[in-house]
Amino acid sequence: MSSMMKINRSKVKQVKRNKLSETVLINKDLSDKEKYIALIPQVENLLNEEDNYFSNLANFTAAIKQSFDKVSWAGFYLFDGNKLVLGPFQGKVACTNINIGNGVCGASAERKETIIVKDVNEFPGHIACDSESRSEIVVPIMNDENLFGVLDLDSTSYNSFNETDKFYLEKLIDILNSKINFKKIIL
Ligand code: SME
Repeated sequence: MSSMMKINRSKVKQVKRNKLSETVLINKDLSDKEKYIALIPQVENLLNEEDNYFSNLANFTAAIKQSFDKVSWAGFYLFDGNKLVLGPFQGKVACTNINIGNGVCGASAERKETIIVKDVNEFPGHIACDSESRSEIVVPIMNDENLFGVLDLDSTSYNSFNETDKFYLEKLIDILNSKINFKKIIL
């Protein structure tokens, strides 16, 4: 082994956990509300303060995408202090930068509130990353009035999201916020 490849084991932070909690199982026959109720403890278990922020964010999007067939795209846009930038996501490739105030994501970030769009054609300025997207929900990620970004879910069907999604997605974002110190993410 060349000296370049040698690993100084004393400097390597060992990963102590070897758990099997990187699993999310949701029965597809459940109602959306029941799915969220089943998902919450699994997401609490999945996210870990010791893990890298992006690993946690990536797994969070996968947990949502694999639990809900109605979700065609699930991902984060993170606030870099100026604009929203594409973060970890599951789904088709997407636009990389969104200005505050633009599209559903930018509007949610600006208003600091969840926005449910039942028909994307009726939302002025909607940004069509995927031409097949028909409805959308965007949840802001806040802490002490600081904006860290938004969670964006898309669906290829109209009317896919409602107050149940809003209620439980906001809960899931609270859990995420308690597990991740967003202030430490450097973009
Ligand atoms: N539709 C979003 C843009 C992001 S994509 O949906 C992934 C918007 O209007 O902000």
